[in-house]
Amino acid sequence: AGLAANRLLIVGLGKSAKLTADKVRNAAGTAVRFVKPRGIRELVFALPVSELLPAASCTRAAVEGAFVGDFDPDTYRSDRKDQSVESFTLAAPAGADRTALEAAFAEAIIIGESQNFTRSLVNEPGNKLTPTILGQRAAQMAEKVGLNWRNYSTDKLHDLKMGAFWSVSQGSAEPPALIVLRYEPEGVKDGPYTGPTLGLVGKGITFDSGGISIKPGENMEKMKYDMAGGAAMIGAMRAIALLKPRVRVIGIVCAAENMPDGKAQKPGDVQTAMSGKTIEIINTDAEGRLVLADGLTYARQLGATHLIDAATLTGACVVALGHVNAGAFSNDDEAWGKFDAALTISGEKFWRLPLGEEYAEMIKSEIGDIKNTGGRYGGAITAAEFLKVFVEETPWIHLDIAGLAWVEDSKPYIAKGPSGVAVRSILEWVRSYQLLATSF
Ligand code: BES
Ligand code: MN
Ligand code: ZN
Repeated sequence: AGLAANRLLIVGLGKSAKLTADKVRNAAGTAVRFVKPRGIRELVFALPVSELLPAASCTRAAVEGAFVGDFDPDTYRSDRKDQSVESFTLAAPAGADRTALEAAFAEAIIIGESQNFTRSLVNEPGNKLTPTILGQRAAQMAEKVGLNWRNYSTDKLHDLKMGAFWSVSQGSAEPPALIVLRYEPEGVKDGPYTGPTLGLVGKGITFDSGGISIKPGENMEKMKYDMAGGAAMIGAMRAIALLKPRVRVIGIVCAAENMPDGKAQKPGDVQTAMSGKTIEIINTDAEGRLVLADGLTYARQLGATHLIDAATLTGACVVALGHVNAGAFSNDDEAWGKFDAALTISGEKFWRLPLGEEYAEMIKSEIGDIKNTGGRYGGAITAAEFLKVFVEETPWIHLDIAGLAWVEDSKPYIAKGPSGVAVRSILEWVRSYQLLATSF
């Protein structure tokens, strides 16, 4: 009675004693997804009041959730209604810190839009988003937000002796793309930059047929999303450019199409990676680690002091963790500690899996240094061990997002389709390396 609104939608958040940012995020998404098909374009979201959750975190989660819920993957439907919630307002209790909540709101817009940008890239089919076009989309974004960018192709791969990356692209009519995005923090005082340089490396396979070790036909269409790790890095770089953390960041996406062809690489071939290590190709479908090997080496050559990579790398990771947790690996407990802390802010689920000498043994080659598969068992781990060979001593985190990059069953708060997983966590990890204002 006496309600000023025409309609009231009540979304359950569960027990108040168990309120989390994640529940608020999903509630806002659920609200948006509920009103969207009903032609409602404006929504006011009443901020839940709780001692468990600071109002700023709550604001941020609500706005992020609204963006997540607003995304639909029906880009190419002729009857697409282009429905979107056009106005999302937060009603906070009287006495709330308006300035702080507005800052959280503004930040969440950037994060939500960046996650959705990633999702829009992941959603594109292989024919509409080739490696070259992915590079163009990254460049357009970079121009808009003021990032330095360069797109390279075959010649550069040859110049840099990226034999592992090139070997994946050689069987495709589409040239590869080496996408480089650079973010420089503003206002470095007292001389040259001496802080960390974070290298973000993404797998950008715009279509993975498996190559000569061809995949079965069933579900092969899904392999258009094999560039989700690369797209996550592009989305994270967008957010970084707009949120301006005081830390240097380089984003690298290794984009290629993995196809069978007369020119394609074959099982048994030996490739020489940029680092000089030789790789025996056992299975051409284990291509992600090949492009990442050279991407990681290149990031180090460009001065990365800390590395993070994201990739839809292995089916084995999906077998291990299902579609609930993504896999994570690290050679450095400090870097991992920062990532773990970032997860509490992002609300994303990653589960750390082990590395170890016994696993490294499984990818030793008779003819060369390493082979690109280590057999069926522990497949996510041997893939990580492969990458570890190329990061050497650099602190590094590897994210295997194969099971989470695509939402298989729609949920009330998110559409079936690309999830944009890892964007928010990578962003928070990057921000955790910010230099203190006093060191500038
Ligand atoms: N892109 C796939 C991994 C994948 C599987 C992503 C399912 C998303 C969903 C990757 O390139 C691949 O094919 N990996 C092989 C490796 C194997 C040959 C060692 C796999 O997981 O089967
Ligand atoms: Mn593959
Ligand atoms: Zn792949």
